[in-house]
Amino acid sequence: MDDNIVGLVDDTEGLVKVLTKESGCKVVTICGMGGLGKTTLAKKIYRHRQVIDYFDHLAFVYVSQQFQKRNVWEDILSSFKTLDKEDRKKRDEELAEKLCNILEVKKCLVILDDIWTSEAWNCLQPAFPVETGSHSNSKVLLTSRNRWIVPYADKRELKRLNGEESWELFQKIVFPQTGKYRYSKILVIC
Ligand SMILES: Nc1ncnc2c1ncn2[C@@H]1O[C@H](COP(=O)(O)OP(=O)(O)OP(=O)(O)O)[C@@H](O)[C@H]1O
Ligand SMILES: [Mg+2]
Repeated sequence: MDDNIVGLVDDTEGLVKVLTKESGCKVVTICGMGGLGKTTLAKKIYRHRQVIDYFDHLAFVYVSQQFQKRNVWEDILSSFKTLDKEDRKKRDEELAEKLCNILEVKKCLVILDDIWTSEAWNCLQPAFPVETGSHSNSKVLLTSRNRWIVPYADKRELKRLNGEESWELFQKIVFPQTGKYRYSKILVIC
């Protein structure tokens, strides 16, 4: 999958550095307009060897506009393989507390893809030890079109692909590397 990704090299390097070298429970937001590659970059980070080796647990959860905080928390615990049968009976606050404790003691990366509003983050936040004074080294990576979802987050604004990169992506999509299209030609009319 990464073979089809164009550019995003510096963005990936920068994010891996922040996530694996900086201490504290940091929130990092990948922001920019729709279709720019925020989810693509977040997935690349999720599959990155250095990231996988560094964290004890990783979770990638799609949030979007319609979400239930409980489902998001359960999905995270399930990705960590720490969701027990008893958790289903817990109250929301107890479930948030369990997740928060795991994020405190283990090094975890939680990627929340496509958060739309600050209210959505405020609703999910009780499960994350982001308050000052926490000794957690877990990290939260958000993708959003809105850069102000978490005002105190480290914000990474994605840039558009340049002309050369766009052309490379276009060719990759139109002529996948099957060898089948070796003799095809592209006619560009400007
Ligand atoms: N750098 C890239 N290389 C290859 N494909 C890309 C790149 N950036 C985006 N794409 C492709 O463009 C499409 C949109 O990308 P993506 O879903 O990551 O955007 P997004 O910023 O998350 O959009 P949204 O705000 O709607 O969630 C996808 O099909 C993705 O594969
Ligand atoms: Mg997206």
